[in-house]
Amino acid sequence: MAFDKNQFAEIIEEFKVDGTRLHEVAADFRYDLRKGLENPDESSLRMLKSYVGLPTGEETGEYLALDFGGTNVRVLRIRLDGHGKFEVLKKVAKPLRVEGVYDFVGEGSTAEQQFDFIAELVDEAIEGDHTTKYLLGHTFSFPSEQTDLYNAKLIIWTKEFATAGVEGKVVNDLLKEALHRQGIDNVEPTAVINDTVAVLLAAAYKQADTYIGSIYATGHNTCYFEPFKGKAERPMILNLESGGFMKLAPNRFDAEFDAQSEKPGEQRLEKMVSGRYMGELFGMAIAELLGEKGKKYGFTSIDMSNIILDETAGLTEVGRIVSAKTGHDLEEVDRQRLQELASALVVRSARLVTATYVGIIWQLAGDDAIKKQHIAIDGSVYEKMPLAKENIMRALSELLGESASLVDTVLENGGSGLGAAIAAAMSQKQA
Ligand code: GLC
Repeated sequence: MAFDKNQFAEIIEEFKVDGTRLHEVAADFRYDLRKGLENPDESSLRMLKSYVGLPTGEETGEYLALDFGGTNVRVLRIRLDGHGKFEVLKKVAKPLRVEGVYDFVGEGSTAEQQFDFIAELVDEAIEGDHTTKYLLGHTFSFPSEQTDLYNAKLIIWTKEFATAGVEGKVVNDLLKEALHRQGIDNVEPTAVINDTVAVLLAAAYKQADTYIGSIYATGHNTCYFEPFKGKAERPMILNLESGGFMKLAPNRFDAEFDAQSEKPGEQRLEKMVSGRYMGELFGMAIAELLGEKGKKYGFTSIDMSNIILDETAGLTEVGRIVSAKTGHDLEEVDRQRLQELASALVVRSARLVTATYVGIIWQLAGDDAIKKQHIAIDGSVYEKMPLAKENIMRALSELLGESASLVDTVLENGGSGLGAAIAAAMSQKQA
């Protein structure tokens, strides 16, 4: 069965973000930022305070870093040497869910089980040493309401997490209690930061002129350093929870996917751009093309990456992947079409994400010229997805014109761990 040519063209059209729309998204994002600074209730951005500014680069000492933001949890022992230098002394990692074995992220799991599992991992990182004192920085990559650097309450799970008894709780209290249950009283959690904040701290530790930190991976979110010019407020990093940005034009796949998700109506931008969701949207469009609307094939963003990268004659790799997931053998012309569809989804994602970065850059510049700066980004989509980086650069040029030469993006790989250690170091200064 071959795809319907018109239906295919119409679907591709649905995933396009033209130049006008790109500008609108950037301007709308800036508008929501401005509104959010005045009154967060009037903005689709949560603008969460982090109670941490930018590091000096001179932070030193040995710290524990907990990176909890996806199904893979990591604990690191890190020594900060100052001058932007550091060394990872120990790293342990475990998934919170192993299909058919255990699951600490699903509805059936509890906060105690989840944090006991994490405390065990901390124990591994300190090799059972229950005497040496450690400060722990916690990168907790979910929207949290903070009152200071320690006190962060989970507002709502995102990324399809559903563990009971964590929403509304101070996550470091849950961690402390779990550590205590295991006799680990020498580890003191002192800071909680979002992973975007961690990325910004890590990047700014190494080089100046970095004000925006972003995650472009399973989830998507961005933070920036707000100087609060002319205001009484202390300058600090704000976690925008930009994945929740709403002023978008979702197509019918986006709308349908949102309706079936764990949290309908939430995280609309994230559901259009991040790795966790792109594969699902891709699968939904394929189901329509195959006349099997509603069928789930389990495509992932890694499948999409492999599909885009296929350069074999006849696109045999595309054929293999699609046949394994859908049970259909495609003609070459349809394999090409699916390569085009995967590319269209990635290009849309990169353009929307870039529009949000530019919204922040415009807001930071105000009436002044745009400053030379780096945007620090971590995450598999940015790092590995073909077409992502080049389309970010292209969209930056489209939006910023000549000023685009002042802005570049840098990969801040592993920023979540390093950033947590830096936050722990910075927490001492604040105490
Ligand atoms: C989700 C979370 C956000 C996090 C992002 C990237 O959007 O809500 O806090 O930064 O994923 O991990």
